[in-house]
Amino acid sequence: MTAAAHTPTARPMTASRSPALSGTLKVPGDKSISHRALMFGGLAIGETRITGLLEGEDVLSTAGAMRAMGAEITRHADGTWTAVGVGVGGLKEPDAPLDLGNAGTATRLLMGLVAAHPFTAFMTGDGSLRKRPMARVTVPLEKMGAQFVTRSGGRLPLAVQGSDTLTPIEYVLPVASAQVKSAILLAGLNTPGETSVIEPEPTRDHTERMLRHFGAEVRVEETAQGRKATIVGQPVLKAADVVVPGDPSSAAFPLVAASLVPGSDITIQGVGLNPLRAGIIDTLIEMGANISFENRRTEGGEPVADLRVRAAPLKGVVVPAERAPSMIDEYLVLAVAAACAEGVTEMRGLAELRVKESDRLAAIADGLAACGAKVEVEGDTCRVFGTGKPPKGGVTIAAKLDHRIAMAYLVLGLVSDEPVRIDDAATIDTSFPGFDKLMNGLGAKIVRETANGGPV
Ligand code: S3P
Repeated sequence: MTAAAHTPTARPMTASRSPALSGTLKVPGDKSISHRALMFGGLAIGETRITGLLEGEDVLSTAGAMRAMGAEITRHADGTWTAVGVGVGGLKEPDAPLDLGNAGTATRLLMGLVAAHPFTAFMTGDGSLRKRPMARVTVPLEKMGAQFVTRSGGRLPLAVQGSDTLTPIEYVLPVASAQVKSAILLAGLNTPGETSVIEPEPTRDHTERMLRHFGAEVRVEETAQGRKATIVGQPVLKAADVVVPGDPSSAAFPLVAASLVPGSDITIQGVGLNPLRAGIIDTLIEMGANISFENRRTEGGEPVADLRVRAAPLKGVVVPAERAPSMIDEYLVLAVAAACAEGVTEMRGLAELRVKESDRLAAIADGLAACGAKVEVEGDTCRVFGTGKPPKGGVTIAAKLDHRIAMAYLVLGLVSDEPVRIDDAATIDTSFPGFDKLMNGLGAKIVRETANGGPV
């Protein structure tokens, strides 16, 4: 991969081979939970206090959108946030298009929420979000009675014409997607009767857990077709405080970095370990990673622990397709670990990677090959041929407005023979503001370049 064109705001970053990482850190709050806390707090009657909210750009987009629709969302000096809600069905028509930046979760969940309100809203986003498929959400919401006008291929910008007299549906998800499931359940929130989603492969269940936390009736049962989640429409949501655990998807980067950089020993505090999110940890342990769980507890209805990670030699494994939903955001950094492991890692069931913030299957194949690793993609299976030694590096990787491309290849640069440069790492701020500083605090060598090319 070669460098993308330099924009005036591009923020290149370079990672170089680093000494052992050590120390204790906290990663920012869980992105999925943060979006939902603002949305549900913005609907619930009373004041919801949110502790540990991720203050990344994606979540700030949700805060902005909820404010534009009448919710009172405030950041306090101590870093906590409060939301005073409008009541289920009480959102008001935004008087300008909602710009959701890079945030697919914000867009799809808000499409569901807005669909069940009797007004029209316009949504758009950045160059990455405007490429992503939205038909997976418009199709079921149209079945309920909402109307959409989208750009060709079901892309943003789009207009939602909602209604408060939608018809409840029972919908079998054609793709394993928590965003689609959540959009339908959130449309069901202001729809009389019971709305159900059946998922052949279980996906993250933060929506179900948190709606219950706010007082909604959500039933979950196993059926012959898969896991079925049902929401009973038009509940009174009541304010309920939320403690946001550390994001396991963000923790994955220091986790892999400490596993790879020889001699490392770090502790990541307060990592959310929802079983539907923890696939990366299971996989790294199968590969031989030395991870121990300390101080296990429950915070805000989610299992949490401190993770102690020590460097260890990794070996290739087969990652089954059924595991994909529980680690869907972690394949880039897993592929980096696989490139440094001994033997072949085969990752199956990766079709969804093609429609993330960028085509991440291509980002794995092209990026690792550019760094000197052998990679093979066949359909939705990807094989990384590890040699037991980190690949050479010495290239610039285009981040393509994808925060996880940027962070994954910076992790690789901490162990590759030659530095790895990211053409524009500003995108990291969508999910992990301060990533480089936090990693450098452990001993990593990540430098930001100034406009004239020198290190900051
Ligand atoms: C998310 C679901 C996943 C994940 C995304 C966050 C969520 O997307 O990739 O980062 O919060 O529901 P899909 O549902 O499209 O797989």
